Amino acid sequence: MQEHVLTPIRDPSEARFEESLRPRSLAEYIGQEKVTANLGVFITAARSRSESLDHVLLFGPPGLGKTTLAHIIAAEMGVDLQVTSGPVLERAGDLAAILTNLQPHGVLFVDEIHRLAPTVAEILYPALEEFTLDLVVGQGPAARTMRLPLPPFTLVGATTRAGLLPPPLRDRFGIVHRLDFYSGDALTSIVRRSAGLLAIRLEDEAASEIAKRARGTPRVANRLLRRVRDFAHAREEAVVSLATAHYGLERLEVDSVGLDDLDRRLLVTAIEHYGGGPVGLKALAASLGEDEGTLEDIYEPYLLQLGFLQRTPRGRVVTVRARRHLGYPAVDGEQKGLFPGEGS
Ligand code: ADE
Repeated sequence: MQEHVLTPIRDPSEARFEESLRPRSLAEYIGQEKVTANLGVFITAARSRSESLDHVLLFGPPGLGKTTLAHIIAAEMGVDLQVTSGPVLERAGDLAAILTNLQPHGVLFVDEIHRLAPTVAEILYPALEEFTLDLVVGQGPAARTMRLPLPPFTLVGATTRAGLLPPPLRDRFGIVHRLDFYSGDALTSIVRRSAGLLAIRLEDEAASEIAKRARGTPRVANRLLRRVRDFAHAREEAVVSLATAHYGLERLEVDSVGLDDLDRRLLVTAIEHYGGGPVGLKALAASLGEDEGTLEDIYEPYLLQLGFLQRTPRGRVVTVRARRHLGYPAVDGEQKGLFPGEGS
């Protein structure tokens, strides 16, 4: 079982490839056109006024380019980038050390910013608003607050769940963009571009087949490209053919729309144990033995995007489209009774 081939989560063993495939400028970036067009305007304007760029919040499912955009923002501003993440910043001092070392107009990227500890978030607020750092020095009755000026900087925050940010933090971002799943055409272009950089030759149809099964996610597309190349290699094929792409993707157990085993189990469980829903996420997670947050952040967004799942106030509902894809009749026996006159 190829458990990980479709996960949008970054795999540390792929870091070198991700790095080499990352677009370095807005002009090189494929897809997310509204986001890149707006960022381009804001960056040009900030540069022409010799100001730091307003703080940027990027949210959306993993693997869609939040880290890449942070690198590009710094590059286009012509400044250094510092990278950290919410869970890494355990104490206020950890963040203070980074903030006091930033270059004027520099960019600080905080991944998973929804996981910032409240004590760390506290010192971030004045830093974002007024570029000052309020430090408590000393302990007990002798403790005092010291206010230090910081260089103007730009925070780029990334999160899969904008809803989990404390409102005072969210309100301090002047630029907020949601990243969406990529279209098939954009992903096909990304696969072709990556193939070029990795010196992989592949038929156009092979590129679009990989794109079709990549869950709208460049990270997954690039991973599938590298795995399919291995199958072509094993077949001593100089140019990756559509037939080999098909074969490799079947072997990887990636279905025609990019579903993996857990997606299918999720849908089948909702259909067979809960009559297709509505079923609460908690119940579904318990039945599958999976973490609720993983289902909500990693699996659901793509199923919602495909129109395979709907969110209703009473829970998740499996759609007719998903039933068809999985080979079920459009409605199950119980529901049939609700429609008098429907065939036996
Ligand atoms: N590689 C990964 N994401 C990309 C993107 N959005 N554009 C170009 N190449 C990419």
